[in-house]
Amino acid sequence: MDEGDLKKLFSKKLSLLKLSPIRKVAALLDEAANDSEIISFGGGSPSLIPPKELIESFIEDLENTPSEFFRYTSTRGMIKFREKIAEDVYEYSGIKYDPNKEIMVTEGSTEGIFLVLSSILEEGEEVILTDPTYLGYSEIISFLKAKEIRVTQLEENGFQPSLDEINEKITNRTKAIILNTPENPTGRILREDVAKGIVDIAKDKNIFVVVDEAYKHITYEKDHIYLAKYDKDHVISVCSFSKEASSPGFRLGYVCANEEVISNLEKIKQFVTLCSNVVGQKFLMHYLASDLKRKYLKEIVLPTYKARRDFMIKMINEYLPDINVNVPEGAFYLFLNLKKYLRNKIYVDEEVMLDLFKKKKLVIIPGSYFGKQGIGSFRLTFVSENFERIEEGIRRLSEYLKSDVF
Ligand SMILES: Cc1ncc(COP(=O)(O)O)c(C=O)c1O
Repeated sequence: MDEGDLKKLFSKKLSLLKLSPIRKVAALLDEAANDSEIISFGGGSPSLIPPKELIESFIEDLENTPSEFFRYTSTRGMIKFREKIAEDVYEYSGIKYDPNKEIMVTEGSTEGIFLVLSSILEEGEEVILTDPTYLGYSEIISFLKAKEIRVTQLEENGFQPSLDEINEKITNRTKAIILNTPENPTGRILREDVAKGIVDIAKDKNIFVVVDEAYKHITYEKDHIYLAKYDKDHVISVCSFSKEASSPGFRLGYVCANEEVISNLEKIKQFVTLCSNVVGQKFLMHYLASDLKRKYLKEIVLPTYKARRDFMIKMINEYLPDINVNVPEGAFYLFLNLKKYLRNKIYVDEEVMLDLFKKKKLVIIPGSYFGKQGIGSFRLTFVSENFERIEEGIRRLSEYLKSDVF
């Protein structure tokens, strides 16, 4: 067989997909998994574990009714689980979704985003994305041969998108606006007037707002704004259990939307995953079944992340006092503008990240991964390291930025 023979067998569409740069960082960390000197402010995987009571009730349930854990369920997800999701969404947002018609359980919000974009986009159509934004949207848009159009989010405006710019960028090819709130990477929560303004534009132009709400429960001083309360038909809400229930390994999330959207997602999902992880659905049913979720968020998750956030900011103020920190309102990332130190290196932030890893065993994420507006900034997560290691990491960052290399 000639070298290249196999290459001919693959779809040309694959050239439209790149390996996610964050996965590259994860691979770097995997390689060095046994090196405890490495401090990671990189990936957004919670270091907390789900509540102990939840694990215990799950094990008991597994022992009592094992057969229920190892079978297929309907493509939309177990109906009892969807009922619990509907109750939970109503309790927090006041929005009513019919569990039979308007909710679809997915393999994490990642599958949700893929199903939504696959079901709405045609070749050549456009999707409005914010800049910066989470990097899980661009590649799918390009894989579907559609085009992303970015709207800027400026640090001086608290990373709120401009309604005028969104309006200006909508054409007759625009199908959707995708954004996330609370936002990865900036931590901003959409302001109420901006959220309503975006939904009004979508209604007026008859396009979708796809809102990725993976961090809807990870909020500090301000509450999350539920966009669907302004219009359930044009807003597609994509949610996840990965962050709120500290369970990304179960790969579970859900989509709430108009019934037509959900039946179109189902058409695709039946051939992608057939149905979502049943063991995870059973586990998360216990999470939603009592006041466990509210207690876990209030007593464990939010105090832990808030304390780490405040401590990381305190350390930055101490070690890098000339850096201005935008305090994140939600999620678990600081988006740190390091332009002052980077000077002519701002356009090679990936090289800076690799050099910092090599010299100081510290991982931070280049802002350019999230869009052009991110150039000169780095994303640091406070979700995974304890106080001592947060201080050590910031100390190393300061030492590196103040060293001769710069
Ligand atoms: C904004 C955002 N959306 C979606 C995801 C993917 O989450 P899931 O584990 O639900 O696929 C992440 C993960 O970091 C994220 O930050």
